[in-house]
Amino acid sequence: MSTYAYFAKAGDRADKSQYEVAIAMYEPRAADYDDSWHPDYTRRLMDLVGVHPRDRILSLACGTGLEIFHAAPTIADDGAIIGIDATKAMLQVAQRKLDAHPSLHRRVRLIQHDITDLESCSALEKRPFDLIVCSNAFVLLEDRDATIAHWAEYLKPNGRLVIDIPGEQSIPEGTIIENICKKLGIKFASDRSWIRSIDSFRAVLESQGFDVKTATVLEKRSGKDVKLLDAGQLESQFEKVVQTAVENKLVPPDFYDKTKPLFIEEWNKMAVDNKVRVCESLYVYIAEKRA
Ligand SMILES: C[S@@+](CC[C@H](N)C(=O)[O-])C[C@H]1O[C@@H](n2cnc3c(N)ncnc32)[C@H](O)[C@@H]1O
Repeated sequence: MSTYAYFAKAGDRADKSQYEVAIAMYEPRAADYDDSWHPDYTRRLMDLVGVHPRDRILSLACGTGLEIFHAAPTIADDGAIIGIDATKAMLQVAQRKLDAHPSLHRRVRLIQHDITDLESCSALEKRPFDLIVCSNAFVLLEDRDATIAHWAEYLKPNGRLVIDIPGEQSIPEGTIIENICKKLGIKFASDRSWIRSIDSFRAVLESQGFDVKTATVLEKRSGKDVKLLDAGQLESQFEKVVQTAVENKLVPPDFYDKTKPLFIEEWNKMAVDNKVRVCESLYVYIAEKRA
């Protein structure tokens, strides 16, 4: 497992694990995470998935529990939903939702742990699940093949694995910061560089013993899918993402000023007729573990 750059103080670079970096990113986001496109997106995602009353569901990187609380009313008392996440503040939001619905206590359990190392999670019995869901988190994780193989161990034969990843045109400012970090030797918190089309992840799933039943394009915000950005618009989005990365200590404080020429290089690679096409969608895969 490699380590990620973490800029604790100006010019002072430390190294952290992916798990620690995720916590640093999501602790500050927890309080208003649900005031975003996520709840509506998760509702549409979970409608695609469909759950059955007796399902045992594992919600990985469950965050504030959006997938959990969408599924929970359908799950009977002999079903179960276990949510696992790294970030205490995100889990605390989920716990408050659970406390507001005491009838769900029998069915829902929340655990703080690393989803890439379920083996060491003593609170999780290794009894296979019917459904594993991991939404809006997979590109934060390190080793795609090993992660899928690891999760497959927690699924029944023919059990379903649901994962989404951003489309290749989804967050150009994110792709730019990732590419610049690569050039500068900074291991950044997310990696989308391997996503070329909807087929990129299909190949990963199939190589790890899954049949992809459906691969669907799902808009982040319903009806607000495609836009064209000029250089100035993309640069201001890039500035915002750098600002957040600086606040989360993922890049050094002087990153924006220092990387302006690299931003222009990246812009030139992406732009067609001086515009970058943004398609704010995710690819949602519903895959079945081969028996
Ligand atoms: C964008 S949020 C997604 C939350 C939820 N699935 C949703 O769609 O609203 C990403 C979550 O991934 C979690 N995460 C990232 N890496 C993790 C890891 N290695 N183990 C556990 N959780 C992790 C973060 O703590 C954060 O809550």
